[in-house]
Amino acid sequence: MRAMKHILLAVLLAAPALRAQGLPEGPGRAEAEKICRGCHEMARSISKHQDRDGWLQTMNKMAAYGMKSSDQHFAKTLDYLAKHYPADEIPPINVNKASAIELEAGLSLRRSQAAALLKFRAEHGDFKSLDDLKKVPLMDAAHIDAKKDRIVF
Ligand code: HEC
Repeated sequence: MRAMKHILLAVLLAAPALRAQGLPEGPGRAEAEKICRGCHEMARSISKHQDRDGWLQTMNKMAAYGMKSSDQHFAKTLDYLAKHYPADEIPPINVNKASAIELEAGLSLRRSQAAALLKFRAEHGDFKSLDDLKKVPLMDAAHIDAKKDRIVF
């Protein structure tokens, strides 16, 4: 029973260290752990994927909550977070180059729509605008508008 207690205690004590080991290696990790751990779990600190600006905003928000850090630690932590937890980047789709699969996956087109787009492209040449795309048979204009940020020519 006593031994059990000791094992339990050892596991509990080791838990934060084990979690820390879960963070990817790299410059700034030690600083991030130092300054992001004060108020909530590290897991919460790295719960986001965002670009550098997003991380800067998050860190400024934490500073407003009372997070303490030297300028140097702040900068290193920002570098670390931006590098290891970047925005999930989905590359935009070039509708003049994309294959049927890329059109289906990247723009959520149905197979028939992707096929119609390729056919239209082969017959009429490159698309130059969203309006061009909307001329493709089977294409849904509202869907094209909804995906416009994902489309390049
Ligand atoms: C002084 C205390 C404090 C420290 C230190 C701190 N935070 Fe926070 N953090 C908070 C509080 C309070 C909340 C909850 C408020 C909220 O959800 O908006 C929070 C919530 C969060 C959230 C979830 C909500 C959101 O804004 O996205 C993230 C992500 C986060 N913190 C990241 C970090 C990072 C990264 C660090 C280290 C650079 C850090 N925190 C250090 C106080 C702190």
